[in-house]
Parts: sequence; C-alpha cells; structure tokens
Amino acid sequence: MQRYGHFIGGSFVDPAEGEWFETKNPYTGEAWAEIARGTKSDIEKAVAAAEAGFEEWSALTPSARGKALYRLAEHIEADAERLAEIEVRDNGKLYAEMFSQTKYLAEWYRYYGGLADKIEGAVIPTDKGGIFNFTRYEPLGVVGMITPWNSPLLLLAWKLAAALAAGNTAVIKPSEFTSASTLEFMTLFEKAGFPAGVVNTVTGFGLEAGAPLVEHPRVSKIAFTGSDIGGQKVYETAAKQIKHVSLELGGKSPNVVFEDAEIDAAVMGAISGIFAATGQTCIAGSRLLLQRSLHDRFVERLLEVAREAKIGDPMLADTNVGPVTTPAQYRKVLDYIEIARAEGAKCVLGGKPVEGQPGGQFVEPTVFTGVSNEMRIAQEEVFGPVLAVIPFEDEDDAVRIANAVDFGLAAGVWTKDMGRALRMSERLRAGTVWVNTYRAISYTSPFGGFKRSGIGRESGLEAIKEYLQVKSVWIATETSVANPFIIR
Ligand code: NAI
Ligand code: MG
Repeated sequence: MQRYGHFIGGSFVDPAEGEWFETKNPYTGEAWAEIARGTKSDIEKAVAAAEAGFEEWSALTPSARGKALYRLAEHIEADAERLAEIEVRDNGKLYAEMFSQTKYLAEWYRYYGGLADKIEGAVIPTDKGGIFNFTRYEPLGVVGMITPWNSPLLLLAWKLAAALAAGNTAVIKPSEFTSASTLEFMTLFEKAGFPAGVVNTVTGFGLEAGAPLVEHPRVSKIAFTGSDIGGQKVYETAAKQIKHVSLELGGKSPNVVFEDAEIDAAVMGAISGIFAATGQTCIAGSRLLLQRSLHDRFVERLLEVAREAKIGDPMLADTNVGPVTTPAQYRKVLDYIEIARAEGAKCVLGGKPVEGQPGGQFVEPTVFTGVSNEMRIAQEEVFGPVLAVIPFEDEDDAVRIANAVDFGLAAGVWTKDMGRALRMSERLRAGTVWVNTYRAISYTSPFGGFKRSGIGRESGLEAIKEYLQVKSVWIATETSVANPFIIR
C-alpha cells in the first residue's frame, strides 16, 4: 500500500515513533494508503524547519513572495484534476465539486500573491512636535494550520495564501481522515521555487499531533477550521501563551424564504444549502425557515426535487449525493435523525441509511417538518443531509428565529422586496448573508463567523491582517532633553 510520510523541510520523512495509520475511501470503505502518525517530536522538527524557512522567506521582498505565489497557482491549475481525485478518494465528496474547488483554489494564491506588495504602513500625523511616527506590518512567524476533512485544500488555501503573502511560514496538520491531498500539494512548492521549510505538514490525530502544534511556544498563531468543540479547545490552549488564533467553526445557518420569493430559485437554494456535499459544509443551510403562507406548497416542490437526487459513486458526473465522509460522522447523522424523531419532528423524506451502496456510509437526503427552533435538530450542527423546516409568521418572527442559535456563520434570504433584503441583511447575525442565492464564496470577500461560529476572517483584504502585526515606530527629529519622568 502507498505510504505518506510527513513533509518537513522540503522532503518526506518517516514519523519519529515509526507508527502509521490507514486512510480509507469513504465510498468503497477500503483503506488505500498509510499515513504517518505524528507526535510531539515530529511537530518539534517541523517547527524548527519552518523557523529556518522563515529566515529566508521573510527576507524576500514582498514582490518576490508574490511572484512565487503566482507560480504556485500555475502548478495548482496544471495539477487540479489529480488533486481533485485524491480529495474524492479520501473524503467521498463529488468529483465535480472537488474539481471545481481544486481549480478555483489557485485564485487564492494569485489574489494574495498580488496583495503581497500592497500592504502599506502609514505616516501618522501625531500631536507630538519633533517626532516622526510611522507604522509597518510584519509577519507573525511560524503559523500552525489545522484543517478538517470536508474541503482540505480549499480551507487550507484560505489560510496559507494569506499567511505566505504576509511573509509567514507554516506547519500544517490536516485532518486524520484526509491527509493525502495536502501531502501531494506540498510537492508543488518546490516546483514553484519556494525555499525548503516554508511549508511543512505533520499528519496524525488531533490530540497527538494537533495539540502539540497548538502548545508549541514558537508557533505564533493557530488558524483552525473544524468543530466548535475542537476550536474551543484550541482557543483555551492558545490562551495560555496569548497566541493569535483564528477559528472557523461551522454553523446552523437559516435559509429564510418569504412568500414573495421566486419559488423555483428558492427551492434550488434550499437544496444546494443542505444536500450539496451531502450536507457536510460549514455553511449548510440546515434550518429552512418558511413563511407560513407558502409552507405547504414549498415543501411539496422541495420534496419533488430532492427525491430526484441521484445517490452513488462520487466520481460519476451524474451523482448528486455521495457518502458521508467518516464512520463517526455517519453515526452522528443517524443519531440526529433519531433525536429529531424523538423530539416530535415529522420525517417527510428519507431518514434511513441507503441500502445497496458499497462502503456502508450513505444516508438518504432527509427532511423534517414541524420543527421548532428549540429542538436539538434546529440548534446543533448535524453536518449531514438533514434539513429542519421551521415555519414563521412575518419578518420580525423570521429574524427572531433565525438569530436564536449559538452559531452565526451564514444566512440566506429569499424575497423580491429590495427593502426587505436590505433590512434582513442588517438584522441577521451572521458573517455572510446571501440574498436570492446560496453558497457563493470568493477569494475577494471576507468569510467568517459571528458568535460561536468563530473569530477572525478568511479571504478578501481583511484576511491578510490576520497574519500580520503592526509596529509603531517613533523617531525623534530633533534632540531634546525632555523630562524623563513624564510620558511623552
Ligand atoms: P474536529 O474539530 O475534531 O477536527 C478538525 C481538525 O482539528 C482535525 O485536523 C483534527 O485532527 C484537529 N483537532 C481535533 N481536536 C484537536 C485538538 N484538541 N487540538 C488540536 N487539533 C485538534 O472535527 P471532526 O471530528 O473531524 O468533525 C466533527 C464535527 O465537526 C462534524 O460533525 C462537524 O459538525 C464539525 N466540522 C465542521 C467543519 C467546518 O467546516 N467548520 C469541518 C469539519 C467538521
Ligand atoms: Mg474529531
């Protein structure tokens, strides 16, 4: 079987403890490669390599770093098909979706490559005479990046492109379920002419390899995407060292449909919100809020479309819904279906494992009606193809229900009334609001969560500052003998 070592200082190395674990194809259920099982000593080596890499990388001009990121983007595009195949083999998501992601992620490296030499400090007109004051932006140093299994390379790009443009170097800990694509991706950096040690990847489990990265005293920042509980642990540990963190932690996003909405478009939006990627996206529109006057006919139309979804092999172009990625996730989705039933929600579609598929990790697209917002199915992230339909009366009612969750990652609004669209976009407590569309993302636009969905932003101009720190420099322009006992 194929084996993947850690990628440290520009080459693949065996794990310090000599332990490996298997990675599986969720569609077939079969193991297809062995992955290094990293521990604290591997993290130690990777951080040392990233520190050495930092000397060289941060000394380059920002323009030179930008050009390297441009070259990387070319290599990503040339390799997009192969990378997408590896993603699908490890996470079971549709090839069509993963290929569009692997092609698209080149744009993050280009965007931040272009931004690298446009980060300007300021000359500050202070109130002090005889002193010149300016600011400069400096990289943080070694950044630890911890990624999940749903979109490994895309979610890495959101962190890595900005961090590298800013002059940092990286130690990456991908999900134990989907390590291979990140390791394959590492080989592109040498081709693009990056110095060794700028990017490093240590694979393994959260507590064995992830935690030592967060605890490492010479790692300046942790950028994390994953569960809210995982993010909370990372935050607590990082707090002990006053370490920078950014966290992207999922949600329970409302998709709000008003009676004046374009029904067919809204139905497609609801479907894409919950059944795309088998519901395994942080931005899943897992609560469908329907104005009562359109509730029944909307549900009817939704079920017609959802019933047509083709379940099967994620590599095939006509498949709509693939397997759930991990065995634990599969059990979690089925557990939530039972919880929803026990709480009195009505299952109007699906609600069972799919028979006759290999691998045994398929769940039917599932819709519950009669959900009240207090139920667990409306409050907790399922991360699967399970939709909770909640009726509402009017705009105020919709806002109240939409905001009554701990999360605040995204929200959708469907209406033809522009005034209402603007009012809703203001009143919804979420980092992203989509009106008459859903799941639109871009390298140009900031993405992140309100409330328990996280802190910090990825993508867009905002994100590069997450990887920089500002320094204020004061230079006396005339020598004076000021009273040393009083602040200047
Ligand atoms: P997780 O949060 O446990 O894993 C995410 C990453 O964090 C992995 O690389 C993991 O190894 C690492 N990790 C876990 N605990 C850690 C710790 N204490 N210190 C350092 N690193 C640690 O998520 P998991 O178990 O893969 O999925 C569980 C749930 O998380 C899902 O059911 C879903 O609700 C949510 N999730 C959210 C995602 C998002 O995009 N926001 C992505 C994937 C999962
Ligand atoms: Mg976990």
